[in-house]
Amino acid sequence: MRPEDRVLIFDTTLRDGEQSPGCSMNLAEKLQLARQLARLGVDIIEAGFPIASEGDLESVKAISREVREPVVCALARTAAADVEHAQEALAPAARPRIHTFIATSDIHLEHKLRMSREQVLEEVDRAVRQARGYVDDVEFSAEDATRSDWDFLVQVFETAIAAGASTLNVPDTTGYTTPTEYYDLIRFLKEQVRGSAEVTFSLHCHNDLGLAVANSLAAIRAGARQVECTVNGIGERAGNTAMEEVVMALKTRPDVYGPADTGIVTSEIYPTSRMLSSIIGVAVQPNKAIVGDNAFAHEAGIHQDGVLKAAITYEIMTPQSIGRPSNELVLGKHSGRHAFRDRLSELGFHLDDEEFQRAFKQFKALADKKKSVFNEDLEAIVSDAVTYSDDVYDLGEISLVSGSFATPTATVEMTVAGERRKTTAMGVGPVDAVFKAIADLTETKSELLRYQVNAITGGMDAQGEVSVTVRDGERKVIGHGAHTDVIVASAKAYVHALNKLEWHKQRRAESGPRGI
Ligand code: KIV
Ligand code: ZN
Repeated sequence: MRPEDRVLIFDTTLRDGEQSPGCSMNLAEKLQLARQLARLGVDIIEAGFPIASEGDLESVKAISREVREPVVCALARTAAADVEHAQEALAPAARPRIHTFIATSDIHLEHKLRMSREQVLEEVDRAVRQARGYVDDVEFSAEDATRSDWDFLVQVFETAIAAGASTLNVPDTTGYTTPTEYYDLIRFLKEQVRGSAEVTFSLHCHNDLGLAVANSLAAIRAGARQVECTVNGIGERAGNTAMEEVVMALKTRPDVYGPADTGIVTSEIYPTSRMLSSIIGVAVQPNKAIVGDNAFAHEAGIHQDGVLKAAITYEIMTPQSIGRPSNELVLGKHSGRHAFRDRLSELGFHLDDEEFQRAFKQFKALADKKKSVFNEDLEAIVSDAVTYSDDVYDLGEISLVSGSFATPTATVEMTVAGERRKTTAMGVGPVDAVFKAIADLTETKSELLRYQVNAITGGMDAQGEVSVTVRDGERKVIGHGAHTDVIVASAKAYVHALNKLEWHKQRRAESGPRGI
């Protein structure tokens, strides 16, 4: 493949994705996902927005230390302090990139920035030069580019190139553009911007009109060679361009887009999607393209008949090509460590020794209770095992009295910052009693916004999976937990959420924006 045909995948799940409601992750979760993104073969990982909080700074640093192959990128507004924070966070990175941005549309200049066009040009020049003083690889984004004056965009991008930027990003920040318009804009910029042949044009789309993927593909046809996207399309409001959809469109339709291709190991797409869902506790919709439960399910008789005769009749790609494992029974109580490790790696989970031991112990305990252990059960086990390391609260034993005669009463044991604690509480129901005991032991006053329980798999012995949405001040997090006893699953979910809140609380910056 010629270098000019290569489309770079810039993954922003950990930045634009993570800043959307309910998708926040703690350090262990971000690291777990970053390692998987490296296995998936993304070219650039946007790891966070270091000025936003101590937590973001710390996680960009940790990812920079650990992920060596992909470029690690940190976001910064054009303010000098932002760029400095990005540089500090990226210091340990093997291949650092600073991504600086400022809005360029008159709407933003007038109502948000209160700056003139000349001032914006000065900011671009100053910030890109500052970033180039720290690293060789600098990306510049013109926020709200698709609602900006095209001639002004040319000036902005020429300024960024002159100051040393090598990637120019053209964000559709509000999800406003259409495929033909975006195509024309990218063509126009490539033709008009002096020095455009020496830089990479990048696209960044939001899905407000459901056009993010279509717009992204149009931009690639127009010559953009970097796609900014997220796993499962998570992101601000209606989300960002879904990585799996763009990658599979390019792979399935080389006749339209080719020879444009990515370096993605497509068999890691499904494991990555499942890992993200289980970390944030947000499932993808069943009919979601590529990774939804029904994406390869043929229900109609005529379709089933056709697929049985020849898969090509109704299947434009195979489930194997995106790494979907069979949904059959996978493991049972006689399965050993080896089989367990193999199955985890097939699902895309690569645990360190300590995590593996914890997960294996839980697997054995589950297999003793439950005849058939399915992939979904394993995902729940892994998500328990890997989020443990940062946690302030550790759930111990629970016992409960409940029923149609008794007042629900729960006794809960927990470790709080290393100290063993135990209490008893009553509630209107068993879940309420357990949650009250936990709130008491952790001395927390968060508000429970949503409680949801599902069976992970079929069967009377299925594990219950509980998701809770909990709020403390402005911060909302989702916790999840699974167990064959739904009350224990509920307690695990609640403690998971409290650990996330605590993690954010400890790292909250005195000031600084929460997102873009
Ligand atoms: O949507 C947007 O404009 C962004 C920029 C920071 C690239 O996320
Ligand atoms: Zn964005």
